[in-house]
Amino acid sequence: MKTTPSPWLTRNATDRSRPTPFTAFDIGEAVAAYDRLVAAFEERARVQYAVKARPDQALLTALTRRGSALDVASPGEIQQALDAGCPPEGIACSNAFADARELAFAREKGVTVFTADSTTMVERLATVCPGASVFVRLAHEHTTGAALPLTGRFGCQEGEAVRLALLAARSGLHLAGMSWHVGSQQHDPTQWEPALARAARIARRIRRHGITLERLNLGGGFPGTYRTSAPPVEAYAHAILSAVDRHFPRPHQPHLVLEPGRAVVADAGITVTSVKAVVERPCGTYVILDAGLWNAGLLDSLCGIEYRVTFPGHPEGVATRPVTLCGPTCDSLDTFTTDSVYQAPLALAPGDRSVIWSTGAYCSTSALVGFNGYPPVPQHVHVPPDDVTGQPPDRNGAP
Ligand SMILES: Cc1ncc(COP(=O)(O)O)c(C=O)c1O
Repeated sequence: MKTTPSPWLTRNATDRSRPTPFTAFDIGEAVAAYDRLVAAFEERARVQYAVKARPDQALLTALTRRGSALDVASPGEIQQALDAGCPPEGIACSNAFADARELAFAREKGVTVFTADSTTMVERLATVCPGASVFVRLAHEHTTGAALPLTGRFGCQEGEAVRLALLAARSGLHLAGMSWHVGSQQHDPTQWEPALARAARIARRIRRHGITLERLNLGGGFPGTYRTSAPPVEAYAHAILSAVDRHFPRPHQPHLVLEPGRAVVADAGITVTSVKAVVERPCGTYVILDAGLWNAGLLDSLCGIEYRVTFPGHPEGVATRPVTLCGPTCDSLDTFTTDSVYQAPLALAPGDRSVIWSTGAYCSTSALVGFNGYPPVPQHVHVPPDDVTGQPPDRNGAP
């Protein structure tokens, strides 16, 4: 969503004094990305950062102070959210497969907002968390536009959503609203419209039973900046807000919730690596880096995320050639997949540095612990001064 890195990230990208591999993450950049989303949606949507995208404690504290709510999936993430100063009413547990033990933990900590997309989950919530608020998660079956579609396992169909909403109400739960996810790294801002149309039909059907749709959780899916550029955040806000206005005419509009992960943190992180080897094979040139899918957690590379990679020791515009980029392990999966080829300078040699951009999302906790003896790369986190993140809490409660 943004292509100019912060001065701190730029310094890390070129500073040769720090040994590689490492990831540098600038919390100020993540907070700025959060601010851009809030502003683009004209303050009409409450942002609920998806902790799974990057659960740094200092980041959660900064976002909480800025006014973000937090989306969590497990007791571990609930505890982190509380430790960050997020009040229980600012925490939403969106794991529609949480078991009774996990739900009991959430209840004891004061969390009251959950997600369900099955009868089992509604009944479990009614038993373990009586009176809780529940979002019914709708399926999003289109794979269009998303690098990582969230189809199949997640969400229920329209008729089932109506049935679950009524069941929740009969079971003493409070229907918070509908939620969905149009797929991560979603390049098509119009993908929210069919889900909004569906939610509007559901709203009409449940209203006949005296139940109101209070909130719409529009999920995540807003993009980071990778090799294929995506529209600016304002294009998403415009497409979504106008679809909301079409399907839910004012003044009876549900409150909007956004649940971004990637768009908040992706561009705030970089991974700095060194070239270990450049090898010629009959099928092409392979460049082996000291950070890859396993030790730097760059697993998104397996499913359609193509990172931007630069070689800071070589001036822009030098002659290049097509290469396949690989991580350091002796595993064939440790290869950066791409539809188009990566280009590297002709003179690239062992010891040269390479920077992988926008690695702030879904990497810090997915690095495997020591696969092939390579430990997860160190994470250097920049916590900006108080005047950037130290705003008084002002938007922590439920809308
Ligand atoms: C329920 C839920 N909300 C939000 C997100 C964050 O999505 P993204 O990183 O695409 O913004 C995810 C990611 O999988 C999710 O499962």
